[in-house]
Amino acid sequence: MHTRKAVLPDASAIHGLIFEYARHGTLLPRSLQEICENIRDFTVVENRGRILGCGALHIYGMHLAEARSIAVWPQDRGRGAGRVLMNGLLAEARGHHIPCVCLFTRAPKFFAHLGFKKVRMERIPEKVYKDCRYCKQRKECDEVAMIHGRLPKLLSDPEPR
Ligand SMILES: CC(C)(COP(=O)(O)OP(=O)(O)OC[C@H]1O[C@@H](n2cnc3c(N)ncnc32)[C@H](O)[C@@H]1OP(=O)(O)O)[C@@H](O)C(=O)NCCC(=O)NCCS
Repeated sequence: MHTRKAVLPDASAIHGLIFEYARHGTLLPRSLQEICENIRDFTVVENRGRILGCGALHIYGMHLAEARSIAVWPQDRGRGAGRVLMNGLLAEARGHHIPCVCLFTRAPKFFAHLGFKKVRMERIPEKVYKDCRYCKQRKECDEVAMIHGRLPKLLSDPEPR
C-alpha cells in the first residue's frame, strides 16, 4: 500500500469515491469538473494499482493548508489506508513548510487518533469564508474543526502581556 499524487486519469475514480460518501452527506460533493481542475491537490492511496482511497491538500497560504475529501472505499476501511493517506498529506504539507493542516470533519475520533486537535471553527476563517458561507447546514453544522501543527495567529488574538 502506498500513496502517490493523483493524475487526471484518476479523476473518475476519485469522483466515484467522493460520491459514495457525499450521497449520505458525509463528505461535501465534488463535481468531476471540480476534481479535474484541482487534480494536483489530490493524493491517492493504492494497492497493486487499485485505488483504495483519496484525499486532497488545499493550500490557503504559507501559514495553512486544509486536508479535504478524505475517503477510503467502505470495503477497504479499517486496514490502514486512511492512516497512510493522511501521513502522505501531512508529509506533503511539511514539504511545503506549511506549519498547520486543518480539516472539518464528522469523524473527529479518527483524526484525533492521528494527532489532530479540536479547535473552534472561527479559528479557521479561511475555511469558513471559502465553504461554510455557501453551506445549507451552516446554522446547524455538526462538523468539528481540527488542526495538526501550529495554528496561525489571528489579528484579533490578544497580544501577549
Ligand atoms: C475516516 C476514514 C478515512 C478512515 O480510514 P480507514 O482506512 O478506515 O482508517 P485506518 O484503517 O487507516 O485507521 C487508522 C487508525 O485509526 C483508527 N480509526 C479508524 N477509524 C476510526 C474512527 N472512526 N474512530 C476512531 N479511530 C478510528 C483505527 O483503529 C486505526 O488505529 P490503529 O492504527 O491504532 O490501529 C474512513 O473510515 C472513511 O473513508 N470514512 C468515511 C469518509 C469520512 O468520514 N472521511 C473523513 C471526513 S473529513
